Amino acid sequence: NVQGDSTNQTSVQNNTAQVLGPGIHAAKNNTKWRFNSTEVQKMRQHILKFYNPETNLTLRKSGIRIGQQLKYEMKWGNKTSLNVTKNFFMLIPEESPLKDRHFNTCTVVGNSGILLNSSCGQEIDSMDFVIRCNLPQIEGYEKDVGSKANLTTMNPSVIGQHFGQWENKTADDYDRLIRRLEQIGDQILAWTKAGFKMSALRPSTGVTMYTLAATICDQIHMYGYYPHSKDTRGRAISYHYYDKVSGDKFAHNFLEEFRAFQELHRRGALVLHTEPCR
Ligand code: CTP
Repeated sequence: NVQGDSTNQTSVQNNTAQVLGPGIHAAKNNTKWRFNSTEVQKMRQHILKFYNPETNLTLRKSGIRIGQQLKYEMKWGNKTSLNVTKNFFMLIPEESPLKDRHFNTCTVVGNSGILLNSSCGQEIDSMDFVIRCNLPQIEGYEKDVGSKANLTTMNPSVIGQHFGQWENKTADDYDRLIRRLEQIGDQILAWTKAGFKMSALRPSTGVTMYTLAATICDQIHMYGYYPHSKDTRGRAISYHYYDKVSGDKFAHNFLEEFRAFQELHRRGALVLHTEPCR
């Protein structure tokens, strides 16, 4: 159930699956599609020119010192930097948890409502390394999204959005947050950039996680990447599989990102799953 080849993207209707153009969603058992290892390598080499998962994703003890001011990529409240205290320094690992890691199959799971009723959970969990974005809810959705996670991202805005506002958190909000963090167990929890609105569009968490996956995985399967309000059969879908909120359409260029993933899929550099798995 992978997206198939199609170069026909002429039918553009805003905010529906039609944006993809007829035929872009392949029949379930598309036997023609294959990973193209040359394209996989090409993307990896290109990304490694500007992104190093060991140093860009992780702070390492050898890279910082006590007393240093670490500049935030974006403003956090009115702060632009963080002071490296002794206690903070002690929390920093010696090495990146991804140092010298390499995987055959990886899943990058976005949070689109396209995953609801997809029955893709088993397929997702069958991969060697599973990446999830923004501390998503998994409990109750295992059949559709699986339960395995090796790396989960979170950012401050996620905590405010899903677990009550910082200033008004109730005991119940804290309980849910702690419970969710406990479920993380020994996987990698990646604290990503703060979600403040900026005038310039920035890459989505999903894109950042694909970038990471491209450097450490041979076969990348993307699920839950679908920034449209209707599925390929014209049925309404929510922005997230786990709630009814609408996404912040102004922070990212989701359509362009989706088109780029479609193109990479077409070239055999990744698999963009947008159909149910059953
Ligand atoms: N995504 C998607 N289509 C959706 C929802 C999400 O393609 N309908 C992808 C995006 O790449 C997104 C990722 O899944 O970054 C994680 O989803 P979400 O937690 O909703 O991210 P956002 O809060 O929308 O955006 P970000 O964290 O990137 O600021």
